[in-house]
Amino acid sequence: MVMTGDLRATQREFQFDLATYLAERQAQVEAALDRSLPVIYPEKIYEAMRYSLMAGGKRLRPILCLATCELTGGTVEMAMPTACALEMIHTMSLIHDDLPAMDNDDYRRGKLTNHKVFGEDVAILAGDGLLAYAFEHVAIETKGVAAEQLLKVVAMLGRAVGAAGLVGGQVVDLECEGKSDVSLETLNFIHNHKTAALLEASVTSGAVLSGAPDDDVQRLLRYAQNIGLAFQIVDDILDITATQEELGKTAGKDLTAQKATYPSIWGLEESRQQADKLISNAKLELAPFGEKAIALVAIADFITSRTH
Ligand code: FPP
Ligand code: MG
Repeated sequence: MVMTGDLRATQREFQFDLATYLAERQAQVEAALDRSLPVIYPEKIYEAMRYSLMAGGKRLRPILCLATCELTGGTVEMAMPTACALEMIHTMSLIHDDLPAMDNDDYRRGKLTNHKVFGEDVAILAGDGLLAYAFEHVAIETKGVAAEQLLKVVAMLGRAVGAAGLVGGQVVDLECEGKSDVSLETLNFIHNHKTAALLEASVTSGAVLSGAPDDDVQRLLRYAQNIGLAFQIVDDILDITATQEELGKTAGKDLTAQKATYPSIWGLEESRQQADKLISNAKLELAPFGEKAIALVAIADFITSRTH
């Protein structure tokens, strides 16, 4: 039987059990995160840091980092400290994002937000503590990686977090709040920085740790750029279509805050189509890796099919 490329891809994914793969990887990441941050004096700050770090979540960033490290010939052990650091950075960005000075949110990952439990002062410090510790953790705990590669990864993480990444995206996002005339270009800037930058660092850091050639790193970067934007489009769609229980955070917030979103510019149907197109572009980038990239192919599909 002659099959189109797409159909062949679907058949392969059929044999790949993504749910089991994600569950196994999640368990490995949870255990590593748990070990990474014991509670010592002053207990209050460690408890606040752990409260958000261990609150669940998909652990997508660490899983992507582990997957690309393995795909390009490295090991899970090599990449685990960076994988944990990515989750620490992601968690701290959410703690700060939920603060009254930013989005003023009460729920995250199905639990009260950090400042609701520990107070604003401690929540700010818990975010700062996690951010600093992420870099310390990568530098101290990474084993079996050449110093040159490790330095590259530290620089990549710094860039993804700072004004050239998350912070820059968040600033433009805050500036745009309440504006009805936000352009598609500005919306893309926000999400390429606020969301895609850390996903890009997650994917490319795994490859850099394994010493992958630059061509492969660039290919994986393009995969990440595509899934990063698709991830945000789906997030915007879910804010409209999913319930608070499904999301683990307040639903319908974008409308209430009059935020510009992809559905507000394109409508729901066009947004879904654009997300699908980005996901198929992402998968095209993986073609040269063949069967080895099956986990990354399935993760790309999962991004558009997820319900939370
Ligand atoms: C969630 O966006 C927020 C982010 C993806 C990151 C926000 C970035 C910061 C607060 C900067 C943090 C500081 C440093 C130093 C990294 P959202 O509000 O659109 O989504 P939500 O519905 O999940 O809150
Ligand atoms: Mg928010």
